[in-house]
Amino acid sequence: RVSLQTLADASPFPIGFAISPARILSNAPYRQTVIQEATSITADVAMKPSRISPQKGVYNFDVADQLIEFARSQKKRVHGHTLVWYIDTSPNWLKQIRDSTELETTLQTYIQTVGTHFKGKVASWDVVNEAVDNQGIIRKDSLNMVGKTLFNVGKVLGHDYVARMFQYAHKADPDARLFYNDYGQETRPAKLAAIVNMAADFKRRGVPIHGLGLQMHISINTPNEGIEKAIQKLAETGLLIHISELDIAVNPGKKKDFLMTQELLEKQYHKYKFVVSTYKKLVPASQQFGITLWGVDDGTSWIPSFCQCEDAALPFDANFGKKRAYQGFLDGL
Ligand code: XIL
Repeated sequence: RVSLQTLADASPFPIGFAISPARILSNAPYRQTVIQEATSITADVAMKPSRISPQKGVYNFDVADQLIEFARSQKKRVHGHTLVWYIDTSPNWLKQIRDSTELETTLQTYIQTVGTHFKGKVASWDVVNEAVDNQGIIRKDSLNMVGKTLFNVGKVLGHDYVARMFQYAHKADPDARLFYNDYGQETRPAKLAAIVNMAADFKRRGVPIHGLGLQMHISINTPNEGIEKAIQKLAETGLLIHISELDIAVNPGKKKDFLMTQELLEKQYHKYKFVVSTYKKLVPASQQFGITLWGVDDGTSWIPSFCQCEDAALPFDANFGKKRAYQGFLDGL
């Protein structure tokens, strides 16, 4: 009986997938899996600033609108990702602005334009993505990442820019639920504490924040205690909690001669089950915004290109077959 169930049917909270609109159109099993298994979708890149505004003053909503249309026709919730991100493939024209007044008004205009365009079509936004570094400090100096041009928005605008971006987003779409989203909170206590404090500070000051996103790009070796602590501490803020980008790597050592084994698949089963059951147990139902998987299948996951290695971090294999990880997700519900 259980094997006939989909995640969407079995789950008391929304189940999301990060998707590419192009693949939805071109890849039938990919589309079918999303239609059957998801209740919510996030664009993997199509709603990032680099795609929406490749040049100053130019807005291109075509690809993102394909995603919105798919969601409308299939009655899926859309979670917007993301309005402001220090790295992104943030558009080059934006990264080059060094004058604080110019950058502030540019971001304000961007958020107003994009928020208005998607008003009523997205339920929620990741307003700011990854603003806090692993030590728990608002990122300022982003010049030390080799080979990447970063967008040092924190340096130009000062640490309180995050709050102002939420105010701009709320003005553009007062009905959208607004999230702060970040990674590594399950393994970096200082980062977790900084985010919890920021959320409390925003609530105290009346900054319109409604939720926190825990990306959870984790591995089979990520300690359960850290996962539990992050979910618990975030839930204690009283805000909506979204596990926003879940995937569980089975090759955390990035070994070049990686070989999949039954043992690894079992470890992945257990980690999926643990994450899902812990979320269900520790997040009060009224705060459960849902769990979103970052991708659909191992064949199109972002992990191999990111780690420059082989991996298989999702519940569906490259042929859209259900892995033990899929059963782990179901068993955690
Ligand atoms: C990733 C996409 O999946 C890739 O296709 C893209 O090349 C880089 O970004 N944290 C985030 C996501 O918040 O936006 C990232 O998505 C993965 C890490």
